[in-house]
Amino acid sequence: MSSTKSGTAASSSAPAATGRETLTIIDNRNGRQYEVPIKHDTIRAIDLRQMKVHESDFGMMSYDPAFTNTASCISKITFIDGDKGILRYRGYSIEELAEKSTYLETAYLILHGELPNEAQLKEWTYHVTHHTFIHESIKKFLDGFHYDAHPMGMLISTVAALSTFYPDAKDIFNPESRRKQTYRLLGKMPTLAAFAYRHSLGMPFIYPDNDLSYCGNFLNMLFRTTELQYHPNPTLERALDVLFILHADHEQNCSSTAMRGVGSSHVDPYSATAAATAALYGPLHGGANEQVLRMLVEIGSVNNVAAYIKRVKAGEKLLMGFGHRVYKNYDPRAKIVKRIAYEVFDVLGRNPLIDIALECERIALEDDYFVSRRLYPNVDFYTGLIYQAMGFPMTMFPVLFAIPRTSGWIAQWQEMLLDSEQKIARPRQIYLGHDLRSYIPPDRRG
Ligand code: CMC
Repeated sequence: MSSTKSGTAASSSAPAATGRETLTIIDNRNGRQYEVPIKHDTIRAIDLRQMKVHESDFGMMSYDPAFTNTASCISKITFIDGDKGILRYRGYSIEELAEKSTYLETAYLILHGELPNEAQLKEWTYHVTHHTFIHESIKKFLDGFHYDAHPMGMLISTVAALSTFYPDAKDIFNPESRRKQTYRLLGKMPTLAAFAYRHSLGMPFIYPDNDLSYCGNFLNMLFRTTELQYHPNPTLERALDVLFILHADHEQNCSSTAMRGVGSSHVDPYSATAAATAALYGPLHGGANEQVLRMLVEIGSVNNVAAYIKRVKAGEKLLMGFGHRVYKNYDPRAKIVKRIAYEVFDVLGRNPLIDIALECERIALEDDYFVSRRLYPNVDFYTGLIYQAMGFPMTMFPVLFAIPRTSGWIAQWQEMLLDSEQKIARPRQIYLGHDLRSYIPPDRRG
């Protein structure tokens, strides 16, 4: 594998290459030299521990807040090249999957490593479809929420509550149990999400319709009113399905890291999924599409964009939906989302906020502040516009991210469980607090 990492470039006076796959480190505190192995352009942090000044020292650690340059796992699920704007699931490009696949087929691919054959896809679809109902007690549980409760809060709580209905989920090293919980999680997430939405409207819950597709049924549970059978608009059904494909996994992002970290304690997958959903709720992660819409509404008109960008550059605001920890190029998902936006607008009418978004993008892509920091639109920049056109309130936007990401979370969780190198997640710290001191009673504290 060739290195794509940046660092201090080798100068012409650098020593000749030895061809050894090792890194030589000289500890200038004591002049000792160490040679540590390099594999996949990476050294193991634990190899630093041998570097000590005194025998009683703990040994050298690496310090990496927010894990900006630390790999915590070996994964075979998703590949991203942030510089080139490449995203692949199990080797298949996101562009090809968005064009040819369906969400359920992509979820199978992400979870199993290979695309299903016809029989496997049929069986997989059958099982996910036949695990969409939720226990009636969950409905009572939902009724306890205030009418304006945020649906993400409801989703986090209800997915965690599923663990109490399925105690067999604790058997995490049993492949049969994991398979069952996978069907249940994929099947029930849209139901929980739709019920949370209907609760906020004070509308009766609509039960799943097994004759519809994954997304068709989701639209049914959200929007059906008096009709005997709900017939989703095929363009909108397909648009949602493609958006679900785009959101299915994104390697070691904040919520997948939460899933792996919490799952590493060997808790059941519902509890771990609740933790991942909570991580996704944040405005810097899955909550960003909601924030993009709020920002576009706040900007209000194309004429106000330049003034808003000025405030962003002054550090007063973030241009929501821009920038990414990994992508230093146009997010490949954002390109596809932009195309889908126009397909949806053809059916439902143009969302007027698109003009403000386009103007933000136009100015930002020409402005040195954004260019020099390599800030480009991410997946969230245009999704909110589509969701709003489809009739979703802003609070549902992160929920629409959480449903498809569940397949990625389960795949990451399973990969972590089956990796013999993984243990309970437990980072180190650099303690810079007080040294030992004596307790002073309150009346003698100055
Ligand atoms: N608007 C204005 N400036 C920005 C933005 C932005 N959206 N994003 C980054 N910057 C600036 C940042 O202030 C910093 O400037 P300086 O070097 O002068 O201090 C520089 O760019 C580097 O940013 P960073 O915060 O160090 O980058 P990060 O990798 O820690 O953060 C991010 C990545 C996505 C959290 C951040 O770009 C951001 O807050 N974006 C807005 C929120 C957003 O759209 N989130 C959705 C991410 S995609 C969906 C997902 O994966 O969940």
